[in-house]
Amino acid sequence: MTIEERLRKLREVSQAAELGGGAERILRQHEAGKLTARERLDKFLDRGTFVEMDKFVTHRCISFGMEKTKIPGDGVVTGYGKVNGRQVFVFAQDFTVFGGSLSGAYAEKICKVMKLALKMGCPMVGLNDSGGARIQEGVVSLGGYADIFLLNTLASGVVPQLSAIMGPCAGGAVYSPALTDFTFMVKGTSNMFVTGPDVIRTVTHEEVTKEELGGAMAHNMKSGVAHFACEDDEDCLLMMRTLLSFLPQNNMEDPPFVATRDDPQRVDEALQTLVPENPNKPYDIKGLIETVLDEHFFFEVHPHFAQNLVVGFGRLNGRTVGVVANQPAALAGCLDINCSIKGARFVRFCDCFNIPLITFEDVPGFLPGVAQEHGGIITHGAKLLYAFCEATVPKITVITRKAYGGAYCVMSSKHIRGDVNFAYPTAEIAVMGPDGAVDIIFRGELAKAADRVAFKNRKVEEFRTAFANPFVAAELGYIDEIIEPKETRHRLIQALEVTQNKRDQNPPKKHGNMPL
Ligand code: HXC
Repeated sequence: MTIEERLRKLREVSQAAELGGGAERILRQHEAGKLTARERLDKFLDRGTFVEMDKFVTHRCISFGMEKTKIPGDGVVTGYGKVNGRQVFVFAQDFTVFGGSLSGAYAEKICKVMKLALKMGCPMVGLNDSGGARIQEGVVSLGGYADIFLLNTLASGVVPQLSAIMGPCAGGAVYSPALTDFTFMVKGTSNMFVTGPDVIRTVTHEEVTKEELGGAMAHNMKSGVAHFACEDDEDCLLMMRTLLSFLPQNNMEDPPFVATRDDPQRVDEALQTLVPENPNKPYDIKGLIETVLDEHFFFEVHPHFAQNLVVGFGRLNGRTVGVVANQPAALAGCLDINCSIKGARFVRFCDCFNIPLITFEDVPGFLPGVAQEHGGIITHGAKLLYAFCEATVPKITVITRKAYGGAYCVMSSKHIRGDVNFAYPTAEIAVMGPDGAVDIIFRGELAKAADRVAFKNRKVEEFRTAFANPFVAAELGYIDEIIEPKETRHRLIQALEVTQNKRDQNPPKKHGNMPL
């Protein structure tokens, strides 16, 4: 081959790779409200930073006439680029090429960038839009998926892994995202399911649409499989960039520092009255979270799922923190199965990636009920407990109101290695609420009392004075300090500073056996 011939081939292959499945399929992609794989990478990465790898790769299938159709790159665009100036590795599945389905060669391309992400200590981002295993390749494509699953698992806790679902994701295509840290879905255009509506109709005779079964809101609200529901492709890519801005590149780094003009000593008088005097009156914990964080910016994770626990990222004086907070405005902030799973996963992510945990606690206990007990609240609640116990990152807790029963122990208490534990003067720390306590310990007297209501009110007040306050716990050293709500931001920043060089570790082991 002459140099001219080689150059011509290079240009032809590049042009063919750019075109993917061709102009007509690109048009169909746009008509469906979706961007192409390359347009997505353009929007996701800092301008001009994308470096493509392996665009000469094609599939090796020689059955069903596949040998006649080879498209450079074979349906997945892989490489690296920058997000906010920091390196990431990426793959974007191209639905215009064989429906983005996964061949052996395609899987090798993905595995190559995943291995590089691990070796170079950079986040791995996958933009998924695929019909699953390429049917014509049979077991080769199944093996390809298994290779990816192994690398997802090995990379877990080493580099952050983000998945976007931007089209159909069926069969094997859903398990790689499920193994990653965060899953984003685009409303209206994305689906995730192991078996689709047709198979379900045949097997269980249930009628369900793709959207009802595996659309963005089904997985954000019901199953909890997805963490974010995005308006469109662009919104999704922007949200992924924002999430990455909070995270370190890998488990050996601290999260990036982002300078702020927000005063670390800022006092917020409004917080003095945020927690209602009536202990049974709900309030929105997000008001408190947003008030104390830098520039009032809270990036909530899993906002549509298990809303009785709020989790997400923010910054305090420039440092990333992971926030975990009971939400009195939903189920009175009780811990249930779903929120325990949601919280445990978030706490473990923060612990993997050196992100300090700030816990705001207002919890009347675990949610009572037959469905919860038979659904396994014991095992699922233990997940959150396990996650907080095992975490060695800085752990700072503020009890705003109720800290009752087992939930007191779970929510990053002093006893499970909480580093700095604050309480507001409104805090109530007890085995249970005054009403329930009086009903149990004075059952006999209540039955005999001439004026049952007056007797109960008197006993409730006595109980509240004796136990339902922060002073007993503070006298025992379970609470380090009782603080005024308006000082919360300043006190949290001080606590973060003192824990900055924290060293703590768990006993050596292969891995724990958390209650899954
Ligand atoms: C090969 C595929 C394909 C696949 C789609 N195509 N899926 N080719 N293997 N898995 C091709 C189609 O033939 C078509 O080619 C093009 O992609 C676009 O597909 P359409 O069906 O026209 O698009 P649409 O109507 O939007 O439907 C998309 C879809 C549907 C919902 C993804 O194609 C579909 O249901 N595909 C099969 C999904 C599936 O069951 N996959 C296998 C899962 S099993 P032309 O040339 O006509 O444009 C699996 C096992 C792994 O993944 C297990 C590991 C644990």
